[in-house]
Amino acid sequence: MGVEEARTGEAYRRFDIALAEEDRRSTQRKKIIFAAVFSAFWFSARYIFEHPNFLKSTFNKASKELLPLLWNNEAPSSAICPQTTALAPVKNSGYLGTLEAEYATEEFRLQAYESLGGAIRVPTIAYDDLAPPGQDERWEIFEDLHAYLEQRFPLVHQNLNKTHVNKFALVYHWQGSDDSLKPTLLTAHQDVVPVEPLTVDEWHHPPFSGYYDGEYIWGRGSCDDKPGLIGTFTAVEELLRIGFKPTRSVVLAYGIDEERGGISGATAIRDYLLATYGENAFSILVDEGGGYRVTDDVIMSTPGVAEKGKFDVRFEISAPGGHSSVPPEHTSIGMLAHVIKQLEDNPHVAHLNRSGIYYNLLQCQAAHDPGLSPRLRELIQRSLKSHLALSALEAELAKSDRLFGALAGTTQAADVIRGGVKTNALPEHAEVIVNHRIDIHSSVGALKKRITAVVQPVAARLGLDLDAFGETVVSNAGQESAGQLKISDAFGTALEPAPITPMGDSGPFKLLSGTIIGVLGASNRTGYDKKTFIAPGMSTGNTDTKHYWKLTKHIFRYGHINSADSFNGAHTVNEALRAEGFIEAIRFFTWIILNADESPLLE
Ligand SMILES: *[C@@H]1O[C@H](CO)[C@@H](O)[C@H](O)[C@H]1NC(C)=O
Ligand SMILES: *[C@@H]1O[C@H](CO)[C@@H](O)[C@H](O)[C@H]1NC(C)=O
Ligand SMILES: *[C@@H]1O[C@H](CO)[C@@H](O)[C@H](O)[C@H]1NC(C)=O
Ligand SMILES: [Zn+2]
Repeated sequence: MGVEEARTGEAYRRFDIALAEEDRRSTQRKKIIFAAVFSAFWFSARYIFEHPNFLKSTFNKASKELLPLLWNNEAPSSAICPQTTALAPVKNSGYLGTLEAEYATEEFRLQAYESLGGAIRVPTIAYDDLAPPGQDERWEIFEDLHAYLEQRFPLVHQNLNKTHVNKFALVYHWQGSDDSLKPTLLTAHQDVVPVEPLTVDEWHHPPFSGYYDGEYIWGRGSCDDKPGLIGTFTAVEELLRIGFKPTRSVVLAYGIDEERGGISGATAIRDYLLATYGENAFSILVDEGGGYRVTDDVIMSTPGVAEKGKFDVRFEISAPGGHSSVPPEHTSIGMLAHVIKQLEDNPHVAHLNRSGIYYNLLQCQAAHDPGLSPRLRELIQRSLKSHLALSALEAELAKSDRLFGALAGTTQAADVIRGGVKTNALPEHAEVIVNHRIDIHSSVGALKKRITAVVQPVAARLGLDLDAFGETVVSNAGQESAGQLKISDAFGTALEPAPITPMGDSGPFKLLSGTIIGVLGASNRTGYDKKTFIAPGMSTGNTDTKHYWKLTKHIFRYGHINSADSFNGAHTVNEALRAEGFIEAIRFFTWIILNADESPLLE
């Protein structure tokens, strides 16, 4: 690392620790306040000696209000991560009881497993390079899935209004009796990621078999996201079968290319729903996302209330061509290497933000998970007031949690590189695309500024003109320029972090939390006889909900799946879901439809 690079590295580290400085200033302020109060106290000593009662009351006050600013006081857990109680339908309790009994039967279970298996056998793969629906025959497989759904869920298709959006995305409307209530919106996606052909042999059962082996249901989509698709269909079909008529309308919406960003499906669904129902027209939206985890002591459920932003940035270097036999000191590829090195030498520094979702999750774990290590619990609780404890906690998590950097900060990854065509020709063009996931407390604008500041010294040193996001930052006008570095939004798809879903006393949050606690509490599954607590979750990726912000503020990314029921996760070989876990998902959809139908917690 050269001296100049070391200096710029230092500058960015300074940039990154703005929060820390702010915190330090606030500690300083507290110290000054304490010193001032302490001096006043000292100089009043004489007065105090003559008035012993004053001394007593002042001391009480000081110990109550001032000492906690310097030492750590631990607030009770109930105040830090308050929990709601189980919520079960009352008016609709008869419907729930009937279905709970039915869902417990072997006959129903096998039929439900087969419903999911049948959907897995239709390989609705979303390819990254799909042309729009209607212009690419690879979409046609979605028609097979639609035919399957019609045949498998006849009552849904007799009683709900179905609308095709952008040909293959589906929206179903289930009319309620009271139009003054905002509908419930349940969403999922029909598409799955492809199966890497070289890995087919590694699957215990073929990837599109939908095979039920007595424990697991196998195949691509068994976890992501066909349980959302088939789980909602099954719950609605069964509710219809026993004669349930909703008071509050229910809308179901199913995207077709969530796995490539929802560009054909979710965007069209959004436009259709906005045109049909309007902005903020839904009381609650539940999409795929965080599930629950069962440990020896508790069940922790983490509905997603936040999503990071995303920004693919292209760095392009254009330089004069020519014959390789008389090269300049750096070719465009060499210069690009300097840019990449500079970026990687200045990584984004992850920080715990006390008003953040990740920090809130940690507080909830410290308050409600007896299985947490005592040291971690102490650090988490002390960090509420102590900057030192916060730093120690950051260090501890950075060491122990592989996801820390992704959950507590912006990330960057150089993912695609191109340049050069022939060994005897100097490359006139080289480019890299760097993927960023933007911290929920940051923004596209802040990231652009930081990138520009990080790269600018390299451009200057290499004699490159720098055009950063449409602005000329370094210009070598007058001198001979070595070429140009152009930084831009690679695909025009910059995405800000999602608005944070209201929590705490917000009605929809309580409705969802109470439903989860209720549905887990009433489960007969082995190991589920323990307390459930809710902690706010945040995924490091995005779902179709990134297009749905205008539909409602109350967006929850929550698939009611026990993480241990997934055999090997999603997007990889051996995607499989423990069949019993799928029944829990159907129960959850049934509960939430019934609870939402009668609850005053929703608009
Ligand atoms: C911490 O979070 C708050 C709320 O999102 C935000 O205003 C603030 O800028 C964040 N601080 C840092 C340093 O990210
Ligand atoms: C649990 O078992 C009880 C008693 O057999 C039954 O009434 C109830 O419906 C079952 N609940 C579920 C969710 O299976
Ligand atoms: C279903 O759609 C038809 C035709 O658009 C319409 O007449 C009817 O009112 C709709 N029904 C419901 C329940 O929305
Ligand atoms: Zn998914």
